[in-house]
Amino acid sequence: MPLEMHKVRIIQKLNLVPVEERQRAVTEAGNNTFLLQNRDTFLDMLTDSGVNAMSDNQLAAMMVADDSYAGSETYTKLESKINELFGMEYFLPAHQGRACEHVLAQVFVKPGDVVPMNYHFTTTKAHILLAGGQVKELYYPDALDVESTNLFKGNMSPELLRETIAKNGVEHTPFVRMELGTNLIGGQPYELSNQKEIYAICQEYGITLVLDASLLADNLYFIKTREAAYKDASIRDITREIADNSDLIYFSARKLGHARGGGICTRDRDLYLKMRDMIPIYEGFLTYGGMSVREIEAIAVGLEETMDFHMINQGPTFIEYMVDELTRRGIPVVRPAGGLGCHLDAMQFIDHVPQSEYPAGALGTALFIASGVRGMERGTLSEERNEDGSEHYSNMELLRLALPRRVFTLSQVKYTIDRVTWLYENRRMIGGLKFVEEPPMLRFFVGRLAPVSDWQDKLVAKFRADFGQGL
Ligand SMILES: Cc1ncc(COP(=O)(O)O)c(C=O)c1O
Repeated sequence: MPLEMHKVRIIQKLNLVPVEERQRAVTEAGNNTFLLQNRDTFLDMLTDSGVNAMSDNQLAAMMVADDSYAGSETYTKLESKINELFGMEYFLPAHQGRACEHVLAQVFVKPGDVVPMNYHFTTTKAHILLAGGQVKELYYPDALDVESTNLFKGNMSPELLRETIAKNGVEHTPFVRMELGTNLIGGQPYELSNQKEIYAICQEYGITLVLDASLLADNLYFIKTREAAYKDASIRDITREIADNSDLIYFSARKLGHARGGGICTRDRDLYLKMRDMIPIYEGFLTYGGMSVREIEAIAVGLEETMDFHMINQGPTFIEYMVDELTRRGIPVVRPAGGLGCHLDAMQFIDHVPQSEYPAGALGTALFIASGVRGMERGTLSEERNEDGSEHYSNMELLRLALPRRVFTLSQVKYTIDRVTWLYENRRMIGGLKFVEEPPMLRFFVGRLAPVSDWQDKLVAKFRADFGQGL
């Protein structure tokens, strides 16, 4: 049984509104869980971004922030912590992860370029496409197999990397990107030995290796517990070895460091100078980069806390519990358990709903109606359309139930398992969705959809029949 190595000192009240209200709320939200109001939501498992529980020490640090516009002591604290943990001297602050991606794409990517990566993230890809580049994913085939027993589905294939560089040329390979705790394939980690192999190839060709370390904490946990060579290594030493085998690291501090912000660091002065002038234009002066100084204080403490095994094991052990319990009930979930959340495999869960009707999005609305649990679609809805306007069907149709770190109790996780089980027993009632308003970019954030039939009304009626007056 997973065990919390912390206690709760501050709480926030939750609402569980009746099933009819939940249906009304999801309808008003255009069947897009991003557009739900929190007052209608019971357990918010949309994301682990900016919603992780902060520690007493983080909150205390926020009280002593130095809010000087330039030369703030608070900034120096974070810069020193980055330097201490990653051995990287140059740091550029940014307001969140995608702001770092904007800078990287604008500075390094030009039309015709191809960026090899283990797997894309939505905002990363959008910025690379906006700069005229393309993304090439170089994962192993079983990375997308939800039942594979591969413990490191985030690994990048060195053979495919060589082939891609040979095909596009070094001049059209602005950088190689490896994402720790690969988000869109279920928070799956990569091996440090794999990163080292990829770095050796990058060095051979003189190509920059960029790490997206937003999900570093989860990947650190998995390297320590799954990669035999690092079983006895400290989290701090593993962190340093990861950094030493890369040229540039960027991160969303909404995840890494349990606060809100972001940043880019490198030990290469030339790389730093190429990016530096973008920060005052788009983010803010170099000593705050669009972040509140209070958040910067909290990130510095949060990064140090990430070096504590008992802090970084909470998320993955709760997720593993959820994955194991659902698997025991025959419910299709991404395995092995990854970081950031438990991912239901909508392609199997509702195999009667075609990808053209967005099964992961539809499952998200069904689960919200059944439980008030708000998940996030990670499937075709989260993809951009092809240039000719046709759908780009996603490799996987996942409903992500994120477990923001140290936020939910085990009984809330058990409630979720119980409602997912009810939904699975009634899965044939779930139908698809269609767009009614579709924005041209990142449509999953604000697009509006409707059910293709009256299946949601029938699901609510079945809920009432089974649960009586219960919520
Ligand atoms: C792997 C990864 N990279 C980048 C980002 C973007 O970060 P932000 O949401 O802070 O802009 C995220 C956010 O979810 C992420 O998971």
